[in-house]
Amino acid sequence: SALAPQQAYLAGQKIVITAGGTRERIDPVRYLTNDSSGKMGTALANAAAAAGAEVELITTAQQLTLPQVKVTAVQTASEMATAVQSRFEAADIVLMAAAVADYRPAAPADHKLKKQGAAGLTIDLVQNPDILAQLGNAKTHQFVVGFAAETNDLLANAQTKLTKKHADLLIANPVGSGLGFNADNNTVTLLWPNAAPEPLPTASKIALAQTIWQKIAQVRA
Ligand code: CTP
Ligand code: CA
Repeated sequence: SALAPQQAYLAGQKIVITAGGTRERIDPVRYLTNDSSGKMGTALANAAAAAGAEVELITTAQQLTLPQVKVTAVQTASEMATAVQSRFEAADIVLMAAAVADYRPAAPADHKLKKQGAAGLTIDLVQNPDILAQLGNAKTHQFVVGFAAETNDLLANAQTKLTKKHADLLIANPVGSGLGFNADNNTVTLLWPNAAPEPLPTASKIALAQTIWQKIAQVRA
């Protein structure tokens, strides 16, 4: 139960976790973002810290964290990439729970945009760096974990991400129509390289976070 004493099965592990949806500026008062609440990533940070890990949470979200979690606030995908990359060499595990925007405005305005004509407004977007793919390519000793939030073809899409991004674990997460984002419960399936999908029972994000770390600790033991 949530009140059971925690074993320090992640003691000595340096873990970097990202959480929340990135915010990509259009102008000083407007941005593009998504529905990610940061709850799952924050739960993973708290659970890892409770299990004895040294945890750095790089986050766009404002969720409650345990005092021993070191929180770095970021907004954009680029800021998140810089923050993660500077901590990568020293990390044992990196877990990308953030919903990183795939694109950002190519030229954010430094003043509040004025309304355009009735013909509409087009904003040019450029692609953001894929942080997880970069980590998967660059890893030496690190264990790299990603998420796949999907509205359809969950396991097939998640399996492709596991392979393409060279992750050591991909957590497949159905989203949309009340599922996933901002909910307190979650239903996930763990995809490990060269193994059958491992579905976990639906549970609170807090309970799932504990289960996920226990499983990671087992495969790394
Ligand atoms: N991710 C990332 N950097 C990005 C986009 C995604 O690090 N620019 C990470 C996410 O944090 C997540 C994983 O990659 O751990 C999968 O994100 P997702 O959006 O599901 O996959 P994409 O590769 O962006 O593909 P698509 O959005 O087209 O499904
Ligand atoms: Ca994406």
